[in-house]
Amino acid sequence: MRVYVLNGPNLGRLGTRQVDVYGAISYADLVGLCEATGRELGLDVTVRQTDAEHELVGWLHDAADEQAAVVLNPAAWSHYSIAVRDACALLRGPLVEVHISNIHAREEFRAHSVISAVATGVICGLGVDGYRLALHHLAARAGAADG
Ligand code: DQA
Repeated sequence: MRVYVLNGPNLGRLGTRQVDVYGAISYADLVGLCEATGRELGLDVTVRQTDAEHELVGWLHDAADEQAAVVLNPAAWSHYSIAVRDACALLRGPLVEVHISNIHAREEFRAHSVISAVATGVICGLGVDGYRLALHHLAARAGAADG
């Protein structure tokens, strides 16, 4: 099963960015965690990060064309990007939206995600463990679908 783990703006700065909110794990370590989890579960995992909205939209189009599953942390775009939401709505595989922090326990503007209504499910507030849990869910789901 092909899975894209896609990350929006500023997530490349994990490890130095608001460590009290996002933790001390670096982006490189997050990539390693997702790749190792993918290997363990037999998933074909590709991890990417971008600060450019059009690039994320293009990757979502690729995932839609490949009927791939997606784990997406849309970061700040969660809260206002209709372009990212519309690209998510094109997906034909499952979409798990992940937030490292609990967006409901922070500033009011973070509490609403325009992506969530088109996601299969949402994980937030569990730190980077949310990515690992999302991959486990996708593997279990694929196993269930295979019978
Ligand atoms: C985030 C939460 C967003 O509000 C924020 O803009 C981010 C990261 C998270 O992972 O907790 O960049 O998506």
